[in-house]
Amino acid sequence: MFDNWEDLENSIKGCNKCKLNNGRTNIVFGIGNKNADIMFIGEGPGADEDKEGKPFVGKAGKLMDKAFEGLGINRENVYIANIVKCRPPQNRVPEKDEAVACLNYLRNQVILVKPKVIVLLGSTALKNILGEEHSITKERGIFTDKKDIKYLPTWHPAALLRDENKKIDFWKDLKELKKLAEEQNLKI
Ligand code: URA
Repeated sequence: MFDNWEDLENSIKGCNKCKLNNGRTNIVFGIGNKNADIMFIGEGPGADEDKEGKPFVGKAGKLMDKAFEGLGINRENVYIANIVKCRPPQNRVPEKDEAVACLNYLRNQVILVKPKVIVLLGSTALKNILGEEHSITKERGIFTDKKDIKYLPTWHPAALLRDENKKIDFWKDLKELKKLAEEQNLKI
């Protein structure tokens, strides 16, 4: 574990801890406010993210941005990262060994950001962070406290592209996040 961003970012350069390094163009480390109160965790980079080296810049990210705009959430106030930092082929779900190989980078990011709230975007984020026994369909929209951090699982924005009905839940969940942030004076 590193106690500063520079060493952490240097440590990931050229990473070959798992097979995803074979197909990547760029490592997608994370983006946003390094002192954020609120952190968003997705699954892994898609084609656009792989090309640009930034998380959530493709279709799903644009949809998330729209929700942010509508609700008054400023992307620059939050920190956004993924479970895996390299693009899985055909955007498949990261395999267990890939997630395990990458999770220490994310743990280190969480230690440095010190977020008060972590939004878990979709099942992959939920299961890898809180445990395999968790279910996104049962737990989305419900805040859970663990070791001084509040976790809010919600749908992954890509799921909204496949199922319009999920947009209502996603908006509702982010609205609750906004409300909590305002009550607790968190940067949002
Ligand atoms: N989906 C994710 O989970 N993360 C990204 O960065 C982009 C799409």
